[in-house]
Amino acid sequence: MCGIVGYVGHRQVSSFLLEGLRRLEYRGYDSAGIAVSRDGDIQIRKKSGRVSEVARLVEQKPIHGTTGIGHTRWATHGVTSDTNSHPHIGGNGQVVLVHNGVIENYTTLKTHLQELGYVFQTTTDTEVIAHLIEFCFNEQIKLGDDPTAPSTCVKAVEVALTQLKGTYGLAILFQDVPDLLITARLGSPLVIGIGDKEHFLASDATPLIGYTDEVVYLADREIAVLTADSLEIIHRDDGRQTPAIHIIDKSPGDIDLGGFEHYMLKEIFEQPQTIENAMRGRLDDDEATAKFGGLNLDAQTLRRIDRIVLTGCGTSWHAGLVGEYVLEEFARIPTEVEYASELRYRNPPMANTTMIFAITQSGETADTLAAIRECKRKGHPTLAICNVVGSTIAREADGGIYLHAGPEIGVASTKAFTSQVMVLIQLALFMARMRHMSFPAGQRIINQLKAMPSMVGKALKCHEQVRDISQKYAEFNNFLYLGRLYNFPTALEGALKLKEISYVHAEGYPAAEMKHGPIALVDERTPSIFVIPQGHIYPKVISNLEEIKARGGPVIAIACEGDDRIADLADDVIFVPSVEEYLQPLVTVIPLQLLSYHIALCRGCNVDRPRNLAKSVTVE
Ligand code: M6R
Repeated sequence: MCGIVGYVGHRQVSSFLLEGLRRLEYRGYDSAGIAVSRDGDIQIRKKSGRVSEVARLVEQKPIHGTTGIGHTRWATHGVTSDTNSHPHIGGNGQVVLVHNGVIENYTTLKTHLQELGYVFQTTTDTEVIAHLIEFCFNEQIKLGDDPTAPSTCVKAVEVALTQLKGTYGLAILFQDVPDLLITARLGSPLVIGIGDKEHFLASDATPLIGYTDEVVYLADREIAVLTADSLEIIHRDDGRQTPAIHIIDKSPGDIDLGGFEHYMLKEIFEQPQTIENAMRGRLDDDEATAKFGGLNLDAQTLRRIDRIVLTGCGTSWHAGLVGEYVLEEFARIPTEVEYASELRYRNPPMANTTMIFAITQSGETADTLAAIRECKRKGHPTLAICNVVGSTIAREADGGIYLHAGPEIGVASTKAFTSQVMVLIQLALFMARMRHMSFPAGQRIINQLKAMPSMVGKALKCHEQVRDISQKYAEFNNFLYLGRLYNFPTALEGALKLKEISYVHAEGYPAAEMKHGPIALVDERTPSIFVIPQGHIYPKVISNLEEIKARGGPVIAIACEGDDRIADLADDVIFVPSVEEYLQPLVTVIPLQLLSYHIALCRGCNVDRPRNLAKSVTVE
């Protein structure tokens, strides 16, 4: 978690740092801070709260200089406070740094450094890194190194890093070497932007948009030494590296609000387009199948696959559950979806004919990354379904499929879910057509898929109605979300959305399983949201709905247009277009996303920045 920015060049750096941090706030927003170096002096402004608080500080007390670093925090060690905010200072102020990650052996290091006389100001794990680097720097000087030479700073960083256990993305300034920025990575992402006589640094490419489109992704165990004119990358084991330059194709329009009040609402309304993007160039009418450029597996290997494991966290796990159902239905390949946080330690038996797919919007989720690393170690082909191009998981997987959904900035994932589902359906079609699925069946599915952007557009027409319904239910404190088959993952996703942005307790459950326990929760203050479009077990779900009504529970139904029966049974009905059962998550999730959005607004919650959360969970 946490967002990092850095710059060395010719611009006055404060405004780039603050703007960059605003763009990275989705990674954490407990506190923020910047440090700017000029003429042998490093000035810091930091504060608990949002980046805007720091911006206000800078307005009151400006800092000038053309080299600097910044940080937005999601607290792991140490409470949220002004003191614990980054940047942190080492020893006598020679070293100032920001950190994303967790130092697991910080207590041991701290004790050792305290014995050496270092005084700690904060309760963070990060402060040990600052002191440790400063200690190593002083040792280098004792050995006769020049304190104003960049090489002395690099050596100090290299030596210090060998003593750290855990994960880090670091941006480091040295007081006596002004126009130098050192950065290092192990487990936490960092991207370097290359400009004209300037270099940028950030946790992801978002802060660089509008400044440069040339980037270099730092790899684990690499240190980069940046000045305005030079970029040197050194790998801990392999020595100096030639930077591999990538081009990012994002424009400032991708990251503004585009007239919407919140990113979440903007991203909900982008879904007809993002679903289209997830299909673009992938549907092959001639062969009645889907095709993917990046799987990197030959047809023979793909035909030998006899088991699929999908893994992810949160919303991505929910999309994976839809994937499990559709892969088994279409391709008849046994499939499981595993929580990445469990899979990484569970060591389940897997043959080399098992294919592993990580599902992740950010491509940086620590548990998902660890799970695929573990599977890779055991020789399984690991692939990724990922949104962020160039992210760690996208680069470490053997192959994969991008969502092409554009930046998702709202902490609550919306468009990524529908894009993941769309990709998984196409994957199921692809795997099925390599096996038993007929040409006409493949064609039929392609035609149904092509209609989905417009179907989702129609589903969005419920917006006003959902807003009204939200007002009626906004005061309730417990909700059940119920659905069966393809509508069960949607129920889980609806409940997660409500929990994370409205702070309202909600449980997603298979509608029939509800009578084995959760039905005890039902009363007139516990609404049940039934995801109940038409399908082959519709009458069974109606029975489950009746069971709730019989116990006095209010019911909101998400039903198909043309369902005449439901209005008599439910207290409120939101209609969505009628589509095939395997496609229903793409339309039924829309009112659920909107419902959580509007309930959150009614309750005065911060929709895009919900408390305690961050967009990318890069810690275990
Ligand atoms: O970036 P990822 O898809 O790997 O993230 C996984 C989860 O952290 C994420 O889906 C989380 O549950 C969202 N906040 C849900 O809205």
